[in-house]
Amino acid sequence: MNVIFLGPPGAGKGSVAAVIKERFSLLHFSTGDILRAEIKAATPLGLAAKSFIDSGKLVPDDVIIGMVEAKLAENKGGILFDGFPRTVAQAEALAKIAKIDAVIELDVPEDVIVARICSRRICSECGAVYNTAYYDKANCEKCGGKLYIRDDDNETTVRERYSVYVKNTAPLSDYYKAKGLLKSICGTDSIEGVADLVTAVLNEAKA
Ligand code: AP5
Ligand code: MG
Repeated sequence: MNVIFLGPPGAGKGSVAAVIKERFSLLHFSTGDILRAEIKAATPLGLAAKSFIDSGKLVPDDVIIGMVEAKLAENKGGILFDGFPRTVAQAEALAKIAKIDAVIELDVPEDVIVARICSRRICSECGAVYNTAYYDKANCEKCGGKLYIRDDDNETTVRERYSVYVKNTAPLSDYYKAKGLLKSICGTDSIEGVADLVTAVLNEAKA
């Protein structure tokens, strides 16, 4: 089964994906996580992407599509796409490489998003995602790694990312609705609560 998570920055795509990938044995494929790993490794792709990410803009479609095709060339199992596609051009490229079974849109208001993003912390070792609203320590409770703040996690950049989402990515709701694949879910419950709603949708899609 191949699934797409749509949703603005801070909607909970990564947090809910961490639960759902275990429940459905899916590969969690986050283009944002891949790009940040490329930046950390100072690869040509990472260097090309950094200024777009830091300013809250989208990395150009040709760069993203080439990266996705290369990363998925050897993959055989089901995939949970997080943060891809983000434009109609990316959705059309994806249609050529994978059959999509369900598209889940996490619906969260802008003010909740800004609050979540400004208090997010990430483990520099294992990538676990936290929020100071429920975990306000300096180190990861799973592996002890130091927690850090993403360079694009500040109010100015998150508001820019939100407006880029509304302009470039929100049109994908209609794109996938027309294909009968879209299911919108309220993303303001707890992470476990949202994951349970997603689980019900995916069980139906599988049946
Ligand atoms: P990406 O890394 O994909 O960032 P994003 O879409 O802005 O989403 P986030 O990762 O910020 O949020 P999330 O929805 O995963 O929320 P999370 O679970 O962490 O992309 C970054 C950049 O890379 C883009 O701006 C762009 O430049 C570039 N890029 C990536 N893909 C691209 C593409 N396809 N095309 C072009 N450019 C691309 O949760 C957030 C916080 O909220 C956490 O602290 C979490 O603990 C908390 N939280 C989550 N859910 C809940 C809940 N239910 N209740 C309470 N707190 C919650
Ligand atoms: Mg994420």
